[in-house]
Amino acid sequence: MRTAEIRRRFLDFFAERGHTVVPSAPLPTPDPTLLFVNAGMVPFKPYLTGEAPAPWPRATSVQKCVRTLDIEEVGRTTRHGSFFQMSGNFSFGDYFKEEAVTLAWELSTTAADDGGYGLDPDRIWVTVHHSDDETRALWRRVAGLPDERIVARGDEDNFWSMGVPGPCGPCSELYYDRGPALGRAGGPAVDEDRYMEFWNLVFMQYERGAGPGRSGYPVLGELPRRNIDTGMGLERMATLLQGVDNLYETDETRPVLDRAAALAGVRYGADAEADVRLRVVADHVRTALMLLADGTSPGNEGRGHVLRRILRRAVRSMRQLGHQDPALPELLAVARDCMAPGHPEVAEGYERIVDRAAGEEDAFRATLRQGTAVLDSAVARVRSDGGRVLPGAQAFLLHDTYGFPVDLTLEMAAEQGVEVDREGFAALMREQRERARADARARKAGGADTGALRAVLDEHGPTDWRAWDSLTTHSRVLALRTAAGVVTVAREGEIVTVVLDRTPFYAESGGQESDAGRLSGASVEADVLDVQRPLPGLVVHQVRVTAGELAVGDEVTASVDPQWRLGARQAHSGTHVLHAALRQVLGPTALQSGSYNRPGHLRLDFPWRGALSATARTEIEDAANRALRRDLPVDVRWMPLAEARELGALALFDETYGERVRVVEIGGAWSRELCGGTHVEHASQIGVVALTSESSVGAGMRRLEAAVGFEGFGHLARERDLVARIAEQVQAPRAEIPDRITVLLERLKAADRENQRLRQAATRARAASLVDGARDTDGVLLVTAATDGDADAARALATAVRELLPAGRPGVVAVGAESGGKGVLVATVNPAAAGSGLDAARLVRQLLNGRGGGTAELAQGGGLSADRLRDVLRSVPGALADR
Ligand code: ALA
Repeated sequence: MRTAEIRRRFLDFFAERGHTVVPSAPLPTPDPTLLFVNAGMVPFKPYLTGEAPAPWPRATSVQKCVRTLDIEEVGRTTRHGSFFQMSGNFSFGDYFKEEAVTLAWELSTTAADDGGYGLDPDRIWVTVHHSDDETRALWRRVAGLPDERIVARGDEDNFWSMGVPGPCGPCSELYYDRGPALGRAGGPAVDEDRYMEFWNLVFMQYERGAGPGRSGYPVLGELPRRNIDTGMGLERMATLLQGVDNLYETDETRPVLDRAAALAGVRYGADAEADVRLRVVADHVRTALMLLADGTSPGNEGRGHVLRRILRRAVRSMRQLGHQDPALPELLAVARDCMAPGHPEVAEGYERIVDRAAGEEDAFRATLRQGTAVLDSAVARVRSDGGRVLPGAQAFLLHDTYGFPVDLTLEMAAEQGVEVDREGFAALMREQRERARADARARKAGGADTGALRAVLDEHGPTDWRAWDSLTTHSRVLALRTAAGVVTVAREGEIVTVVLDRTPFYAESGGQESDAGRLSGASVEADVLDVQRPLPGLVVHQVRVTAGELAVGDEVTASVDPQWRLGARQAHSGTHVLHAALRQVLGPTALQSGSYNRPGHLRLDFPWRGALSATARTEIEDAANRALRRDLPVDVRWMPLAEARELGALALFDETYGERVRVVEIGGAWSRELCGGTHVEHASQIGVVALTSESSVGAGMRRLEAAVGFEGFGHLARERDLVARIAEQVQAPRAEIPDRITVLLERLKAADRENQRLRQAATRARAASLVDGARDTDGVLLVTAATDGDADAARALATAVRELLPAGRPGVVAVGAESGGKGVLVATVNPAAAGSGLDAARLVRQLLNGRGGGTAELAQGGGLSADRLRDVLRSVPGALADR
């Protein structure tokens, strides 16, 4: 049974039993806990948790899903696909266990002739949660299953959740015994290849909280209603019903696998490693097609990164198979033809899809060529020296100079039995970041040349630095320097570096931005633009003279803008508060690895794998704002470094500290960090901490950004305005916005589908009338036609006509299509014509003087003007006669 038929039967079966058929949601999901939809229930999550009222009591869907957690398993097992289609039936507080069990059993075991899947009831095994006697009894009663084929399992296998906070519950899975050739007897607990899981029934009745993995997370309580969520793997059912070994060999992926094998000149089934690679290609090409069709583009972060990784793995697998040329355009076209019947979006967006993929492939092939050569020779050196570890410096060179992704280095080295010194690699990455920062500091201080500044320091001693206790000082100008060199006077409009004997300005350090303010004297006014400490003890100001002249020896008043300083103190204390809150929620490994703050804004980087869930973000923000509400006191204390260590003060930025260190405490031990920054006196002065974003900054590193003080309130107000505007635009009360948007999107999809349906109907009608006018040309039934539209439209019409031609007679169809001045010709032949030696690709080349291409069955050529297209269509009968 073809996959399309399995899909149709599933939806029909449940529609006939009162379920509303809901179209698949796009793969990228707005659910902040996920990148892509990874289960059929994801679009229904608000209805399952009771967050929103379900629009229907029962529903069914075949949902596109992507899971890349097990990506290394793809191709190695029979059943891991990075893309798959989950067929599900859902009850939102309507039916529960009994009906779920009955329906799944009925559809699985009803004979194929009667609309079911016709599985042999004697080969079905089921699992139940060990506490779930009710379901065990149902399997006995409803299905007549003997006890030995009802297997009890624990939380790890039979308690289902999305892996993140959300609905969850015990589940019961159906397995099919594929026979002794595939493994040992004894049921799913013994062998999951022989006994293939094909359907999971989840009895959703609880809500889970944050926590690790598949078990060991807190269950927060019962859901308002008991729901059913089931997932039948469409690919797995196809594997069973098509009698193939694994899901890569089913009708929706096998053609891609075959084309990859043909391109690489290898035979599937001849070599186990090559087979794995072919299966990886078949899987990944399809996944990439589906992701691109839903609007994801390759990139360095989040969704884009997942797609990039998949595309690159496909390209690399083709290279490993021995195919060095670009392969994606050709493979994607095959995948498109497989998937378009169930997913018209892949055909509609195809030009964009293939464009993006080809661009990515080109770039990656260039990277691979260079990087692989460098890596191979490095690995060879390690091995010939009898070593097993590739130095971190080598991985760094590959990354830094050749743009070779480090995960690829790890993978490729491992394939050759060599490990990579990850610590060494990480240390070099850190050093590089440090260097970049130091360079930036030097540039800001007016160039890397610090010789002149050192002379000033030697002559006058260190700057008398008052930032911790003053906003204003009376100061004397010790030295001036412009881009041209050392000067004694700077005029209005000039930008100049100034050294003062004394200053209240905070120089950028420890993540805190430098102060803004002014210098004013009897005959000068100047704005302070930047303040740095290029040498220990020496503070320099970059200023713009706005009035008069600034001369060496002048007495000036140096004053920090008090509003600016207040903002800076709020932001820096806000950073400490957020850091403490972060560690409270995520634990001590979330240690700040870098930060930056300026009035109103702050950001903080920390090592963490994966995006923070919405719940974690809210908890962090709450913990921070609770510290503000408690108005924790902020104290600055100097103490010996050893004592600070003893107290557990956090030391950051790998800085070297003196014997005595400055410790900033907020609420005593609540937050204790070594810090040279300026701070508020008590936490409520921060105003508010409003998280504005959470993102990835490289592998295993996350960044939190927040607005504080007045800007924090401003941020919240802007969000409120935005919600008000959206409410007005979608004409719904605020609380109903998500529902309204869901409805609007669904309507849009329905309209798209209707549009598609009408187009298909029009194509069919046109095809039927064209067949009526078919002409006999030298014993061949010939149809030629011109149509508006692109190559897809021409292909659709040509194949529709071909299908309607009488099967017993050779038939040839040629369709010319034109839109926006671009003409394309498509030719196709039916099996009877192919049998008598007619070849579509040859015909196209004959008509277009050697240009164009495709298969013997279907071929096309483009770039034709409207006139030329007309002539070509007229010449088809002649070409057939000449054959
Ligand atoms: N949501 C369940 C699963 O993904 C059906 O297995």
